[in-house]
Amino acid sequence: MVRKTKAANKGTIGILTAGGDCPGLNAVIRGVAKAAMHHGIKVIGIHDGFRGLVENRYTIVDNPLVSGILAQGGTFLGSSRDKPHKMPMGGKPMDMTSVAVANYHKLNLDCLVCLGGNGTQKNALRLHQQGGINVITLPKTIDNDVAETDITFGFDSAMSIATEAIDRLHTTATSHHRMIVCEIMGHSAGWLCLGAGIAGGADVILIPELPYDIKIVANSLQRRQRSGKRFSIIAVAEGILSLDEARARAVAKGKKPKSTGEVRTVENRDEGEVRLVQEPVASRLARQLQQLTGVEARVTSLGHVQRGGPPTAFDRLLCTRLGTKAGELLAEHHYNVMVGVKGTECVPIPLVKAAGTKRIVPLDHPWIRTARLVETCMGDVEA
Ligand code: F6P
Repeated sequence: MVRKTKAANKGTIGILTAGGDCPGLNAVIRGVAKAAMHHGIKVIGIHDGFRGLVENRYTIVDNPLVSGILAQGGTFLGSSRDKPHKMPMGGKPMDMTSVAVANYHKLNLDCLVCLGGNGTQKNALRLHQQGGINVITLPKTIDNDVAETDITFGFDSAMSIATEAIDRLHTTATSHHRMIVCEIMGHSAGWLCLGAGIAGGADVILIPELPYDIKIVANSLQRRQRSGKRFSIIAVAEGILSLDEARARAVAKGKKPKSTGEVRTVENRDEGEVRLVQEPVASRLARQLQQLTGVEARVTSLGHVQRGGPPTAFDRLLCTRLGTKAGELLAEHHYNVMVGVKGTECVPIPLVKAAGTKRIVPLDHPWIRTARLVETCMGDVEA
């Protein structure tokens, strides 16, 4: 039974949200805070991820502050992609680890709870290993690519948004007898594109894990035309590679192939370096497919729409379960773990096991087989 009386003060924790936001962050903050306060633990909300810890910006969290936020998108604490060990300070990257650790002690924290994706897992582990502080992490990302957990929070919400978008693209593509290439987030992991592609019934699904042959894709679209289907939906992840690009990358031994044509700069946040990437893949693909098939093509890039708005019921439940599990672990002083999902349970996983590995789609994953069995072209072999 849940106790109604206030427990005595059992310590203080800080909580922060880092990396790209996603639906469900507020729900997790609420779950952690309510469960921690239930156990008599004080909660301090750190603003804007690790930057707020370095700059000592925070809010005292009480019950009213976390009431009514379960269904709200984004994070009321704010987020940033800044890392303690390479934080831009006055335009220059500086190692601010010792400042972050000093502020942790100044706030009298017993543990720092970090909600984030792969970068956050690594940053939290580094703070623990180099700064000697206690941390607990929770796996957040629409990409679903955190290791050692069956699922990340935010993924289901983003998949629902992308699926609805594909549904909407279907009706307009049908009316105009067009093909529409829909670009879905995911630089190195194709979970979101694959899941939404299957759920939305995309005719072609291209993911980073499976390099594609443009001729195979064009052939499958032409077969559809010949069978009387005069529209096609092509779902592509941001990070897809053609066979040639994948070969060039392999030859360059892990280095990116030389960029050609139109380029734009983006920051590679995981590696902390600036790199060049091709023009958005969906545009290039649409142009090539229109040339090869003669079918009129259009492009839709879903972008940050996939990260906005309220979490789905599934994510609200998952976030509340993960958050309250973290609250219980805090009460037991069980630190330096990521709270992940294994089967039907939320469980602590040693952070050292979870941090530093991306969970990409295995090539023998049942979702890939499922897609092939409903005649979806995956770009690698003739469907
Ligand atoms: O890591 C999550 C993610 O949404 C990726 O899928 C996407 O490529 C990236 O973040 C976009 O980052 P930003 O919000 O910094 O543009």
